[in-house]
Amino acid sequence: MKIIKAKDYKDLSRKAANLISAQVIMKPDCVLGLATGSSPVGTYEQLVEWYENGDLDFGDVTSVNLDEYVGLAKEHEQSYYYFMHKHLFDYVNINPERTFLPDGTNLNKEEECARYEEVIRSVGGVDLQLLGLGHNGHIGFNEPGDVFEKGTHCVTLSERTIEANKRFFASADEVPKQAYSMGIRTIMMAKKILVVVSGEDKAEAVKNAFFGPVTPQVPGSILQMHPDVTVVADEAALSKCDLA
Ligand code: F6R
Repeated sequence: MKIIKAKDYKDLSRKAANLISAQVIMKPDCVLGLATGSSPVGTYEQLVEWYENGDLDFGDVTSVNLDEYVGLAKEHEQSYYYFMHKHLFDYVNINPERTFLPDGTNLNKEEECARYEEVIRSVGGVDLQLLGLGHNGHIGFNEPGDVFEKGTHCVTLSERTIEANKRFFASADEVPKQAYSMGIRTIMMAKKILVVVSGEDKAEAVKNAFFGPVTPQVPGSILQMHPDVTVVADEAALSKCDLA
């Protein structure tokens, strides 16, 4: 695991965007695994800027997203489909037919999870998976538990995650209670993983996930077992880790 220390969020976003750019330049028809949430927003902004400057071409890129809320229509402002369009897809030349997310409107959970696993398999697997890290150490919507969830599955969100996400909704009651998420196996099968983490409120999660024991109680800790993980974190997020 490689840890890259960034000064602040802007620096972190630029460094992460650089790593994604390198992937797209080295393999123009790569498969990017994408994340939502506040952590990657600056990274997407930077990628859009470089695309607008003519330095990046997404024409042959395929994307698969980590997760999606169950029960939200694509047009819902808090759906991850909407998020991805608002922050990236609408501003770069990625082929919309090559952008994939779990379908939150398919309420047949078994069918949707199997379909999404097949989508990932059929595009040849993920070359570079971008991840954020939750306060409780979750990755995707793999919440702390007794076992590492394997493939794409339907998750019941923890109170803490609902609490963290309610800022985007009118109230906590409106936050969907379930989500489809790539599982730990799905994530671990990516060839490369890039984690972006920012802020002092994530410092404990960073310490537990990347410097603590590997345990399903801290789902992100499994990343310590992956052969090619890069964590780009700002000074605040690394403030509880002894990097010397
Ligand atoms: C997003 C996702 C989540 C977030 C995590 C951190 O697709 O799967 O695991 O990465 O909750 O969220 P932020 O970046 O908003 O702190």
